[in-house]
Amino acid sequence: METQVGQERSVGAASQTSLHRLAGPMEAHKDDIEQVLISEEEIQRKIAQMGEQISSDYAGRDLLVVGVLKGAFVFMADLSRHVRLPMEFDFMAVSSYGAATQTSGVVRILKDLDHEILGRHVLLVEDIVDSGLTLSYLLKNLRTRRPASLEVCALMQKTGVQQVPLDIKYRLFEIPSVFVVGYGLDYGERFRNLPFVGTLRPEVYRDAVS
Ligand code: PRP
Repeated sequence: METQVGQERSVGAASQTSLHRLAGPMEAHKDDIEQVLISEEEIQRKIAQMGEQISSDYAGRDLLVVGVLKGAFVFMADLSRHVRLPMEFDFMAVSSYGAATQTSGVVRILKDLDHEILGRHVLLVEDIVDSGLTLSYLLKNLRTRRPASLEVCALMQKTGVQQVPLDIKYRLFEIPSVFVVGYGLDYGERFRNLPFVGTLRPEVYRDAVS
């Protein structure tokens, strides 16, 4: 199910198309992107497969999908439309990065769930697992609320950089340890609405600090 994303995959035809599709006011972002790491087509194909898998695994169960804001909102919206089951949604908002590109290791809950999860089958949806500290904190926190089950669906996991052991049942892509934006992920709150995942040109960071 999972796809390993390496440097050699990032220059494919689909990746080129992803960039060329940025038009109108979004065209300004073309110059900000260094590489398309995961194209729109790859993301959508994997999400459709994952939706099928989750639909089959949770059939007959009372599913509650919990999105981790802000980054997961794009992925969660697309994924949920491929899950052919009645389900409910809730959100948590946490912040671990602030405006920086490196994790601080400090997790803050900015918004808690609206509802109890006691006895519910909870699927936690994340955009990216980097150090793993955010997810580790969230899982510990949610387990104390005694859900019937608690699993994770992550769009991406960075290879070999997790500081804590994690059990991620559903993971779509494994990526190298580089800072990425797009498809929900931001730099300085921008780029979340890109339909693909990519890296930024170094000038974008330099311009931001100068
Ligand atoms: C990002 C991302 C994850 C977390 C992963 O959130 O959405 O929640 O960092 O990093 P970790 O594995 O090193 O803990 P961020 O704090 O940037 O907030 P955002 O989703 O609102 O952009």
